[in-house]
Amino acid sequence: MLKHQLLLITVLFALSSNIYKAQSVVWLDQLDLSVATQGNGKPGVNTSVDGRKITIAGETFDRGFGTHAESSLLINLNGKAKNFSASVGLDDEMKGQNPAVEFEIYGDNKKLWSSGIMKLGDKAKPVNISLQGIKQLELIVTDGGNGPYYDHADWADAKFETSEDAKLITFNPISSIPYILTPKPSDKPKINSASVYGGRPNSPFLFRVAATGERPMTFSAKNLPDGLTIDSKTGIITGKVDTKGTYEVVLNAKNAKGSASKKLKIEIGDRIALTPTMGWNSWNCFGHEVSADKVKRAADALVKSGLVNHGWSYINIDDSWQYNRDGKDPSFKGKMRDENGYILTNSKFPDMKTLGDYIHGNGLKMGIYSSPGPWTCGGCAGSYGYEKQDAESYAKWGVDYLKYDWCSYGGVLDGLPENDPNKVSSLNFQGGGDLDKGVKPFKLMGNLLKQQSRDIVYNLCQYGMGDVWKWGDESDAQSWRTTNDITDTWASVKSIALAQDKAAPYAKPGNWNDPDMLVVGVVGWGNPHQSKLKPDEQYLHISLWSIFSAPLLIGCDLEKLDDFTLNLLTNDEVIAVNQDALGKQGVCLQTIGELRIYVKELEDGGKAVAFANFGREKIKMSYKDFKKLGITGKQIVRDLWRQKDIAKINSDKGNLALDIPAHGVSFYKFISNK
Ligand code: GLA
Repeated sequence: MLKHQLLLITVLFALSSNIYKAQSVVWLDQLDLSVATQGNGKPGVNTSVDGRKITIAGETFDRGFGTHAESSLLINLNGKAKNFSASVGLDDEMKGQNPAVEFEIYGDNKKLWSSGIMKLGDKAKPVNISLQGIKQLELIVTDGGNGPYYDHADWADAKFETSEDAKLITFNPISSIPYILTPKPSDKPKINSASVYGGRPNSPFLFRVAATGERPMTFSAKNLPDGLTIDSKTGIITGKVDTKGTYEVVLNAKNAKGSASKKLKIEIGDRIALTPTMGWNSWNCFGHEVSADKVKRAADALVKSGLVNHGWSYINIDDSWQYNRDGKDPSFKGKMRDENGYILTNSKFPDMKTLGDYIHGNGLKMGIYSSPGPWTCGGCAGSYGYEKQDAESYAKWGVDYLKYDWCSYGGVLDGLPENDPNKVSSLNFQGGGDLDKGVKPFKLMGNLLKQQSRDIVYNLCQYGMGDVWKWGDESDAQSWRTTNDITDTWASVKSIALAQDKAAPYAKPGNWNDPDMLVVGVVGWGNPHQSKLKPDEQYLHISLWSIFSAPLLIGCDLEKLDDFTLNLLTNDEVIAVNQDALGKQGVCLQTIGELRIYVKELEDGGKAVAFANFGREKIKMSYKDFKKLGITGKQIVRDLWRQKDIAKINSDKGNLALDIPAHGVSFYKFISNK
C-alpha cells in the first residue's frame, strides 16, 4: 500500500514538474536587453525608452521592453520556446508628436507577425504566436514609413512559454558572428591604386602607391613626367609637373616574394579627383571633440592598419577646428580671426601647417571644413565675408580638400543679424532666383580655391538642395552631398541608398555624388559605439557606396578598428569598382519585390552588379533577366567580396542561383567569356 502511495506521489510529482516545465514562463525583461540595437536612447527594462512606466493609450504595464525605432532584438531560442505573447504600441510619453511604427516578428528570417502601422493613441495590440521549431527570433520596430522620429515603442508584458528549461539568450549580431568575407592579401606585391590620377600644372604633386604584400618593398615607376620622383622605399611620388598632358606611367612594386606592375595614367590638366575621394573624416566618430592629436593619430592608424595599402589617403578634419561662438569647452573660446581677417585655429589645433606637413610626410592628404555662412553647423567661425583669406589659409597650411557646409548661410539669405545664434535657416531653394542665391556662395569659394597654388578637392555640403548635382561642376566642385546626414541605422542607410539614382547621370571623373560618409566601425559623433548596422547591412552599405562611385570617407575611430571592419574596408575588388576609371555611377535597373539590382559599367567592359536585398526575409531565387541588366552572352560571374569566380553562365539561356541574406547583398562582377 505504502509502495503504491509512494509511486503515485512520485508520478504526480513528475507530472506536476513537467506541467510546470510545460508552462514555464520566461519574461522578455529577464533577458539581457542591452544588446538590442535601436535608433535612439537605451533599451528600457520594464520602462519606456525614456525610463518611465510603460503606458500605451492610457493603459499602464509593469513589465516589458521600451525601445525606439528602428529597433531590433535578436533572441536565440534553440527551438525550445513554444510561444511568444505581448501587447505592443507607442508609448504615451511622446504625446503631442506624430510618431508611427510597425512591430514585426521574424522567426529564422521569415516574417511571423506584424502589427500593421500603429500611431500614438492606438490601443495596445495583443500578439500571441507559436514558436514551434524556431531557432532564432527577431523583434523589430520599423519607423512606420515616416522616419524614426519620436518612435518610443513598447513590447509590453512580453513573455515566452518554454517547453523545457530553455535558455533563451539575446545576442548582438556584430560581436557574436564572425563574418569575414575578404580573403587575406597575398605576401606577393599587388598594386591597388586606381589606374588614373589627375593634377593641375605646377601644383604640388603627392601620390602614394597603394600596394599590399610583405615589407620591405621597393617601388619604382617608368615614364614619370619631368618634375616627379618616386621614393623607392615608401612609393610616395612627389614633385611638380609644369606641362599639361596625359602621362602613361608604369608602377612597379617588388619584394622578396615577387614583383607586380600596374599602369597609372597621370592626367595633368584642369580636372582633379578623377576617381572618388577615399579617406577618413573626423565627424562620425569624434564630432566636436576633434583635436590635432586625434587627427595625427588617425593618420598614423591609417598607415599602421594597412588601409593606406588599399588606396585610403585623405585625412579630413570636420567641424570644430575653429573657435566657437558658444562652446562651453574653454579651448573653443578665443578671438576667431586676426586683424587682417585670417582665421585662427582653436587651441586643440596649435599649428595647422605642422599638422599638414605631418600628414603629407606619410604620403596622405589633409582635408578641412567650413561654411559659407558666418557659422558652421556646430557654431564655429564660418567663412562668410572672409572667403579669400580662408582659401589662402588653406593653401598655406597645405589643405588638399575642403568640405563647405551650408549651415548658417540660410540666415544670410534671410537677412538675420550676423551673430544671431538661430542663423540656421530652413530655406530650401529649388529654382529660379532662389537657386542663384543658393549657388552663389559655393561658386565664390570654388573660384577662390582654383586660384590657389595647390589642388584642393572641393566638396559641397548642402544636403542636395536645388539638385546640386546639376550645378556642382559649374561651382568648380568635385563632389557634393546628395542627402541629409547619415546615421548608423538601417533606416538611414536604406533611405539614402534609395534616393541616389536621380543624380547618377551627373557623375563622371572629377564630379561625384556624395551620399555621406561611411557608418561602419566605432562611430558615435563624440559618443563612441559600434555601428548599429548588422554585418549584412554593412556589406550592403559598402557595396552600394562602391557601386554609386561615392566618395568613400571612413567615419570611425581608426584606432579601434576590429577585424570585421578592417576586412570590410580592404577588399580591393570592391574598392576597384568604386575607383573604376570610367567614372560611371551604378543605378538600379530592376526591382523584384524587396530586391533591387544595381548595375555599374566598368572600364574593362565588365559590369559590377549588386543584388541588394532591402527586405527582412532572405531571398532565394533562380535569376534569369540578364537582358534587363544589359548583360548578354557567355559570362563569368565573380563574387567580389569572396574574390572568387562562382559561375560560368550563358546569360541568354542560363540561370544564376541567388541566395541573399536579409538586408544583405550579393556583389558580383560579370565578365564577358567569349
Ligand atoms: C552638418 C554636416 C555633417 C557635419 C556637421 C558638422 O550636419 O552635414 O556632415 O559636417 O554639419 O557640424
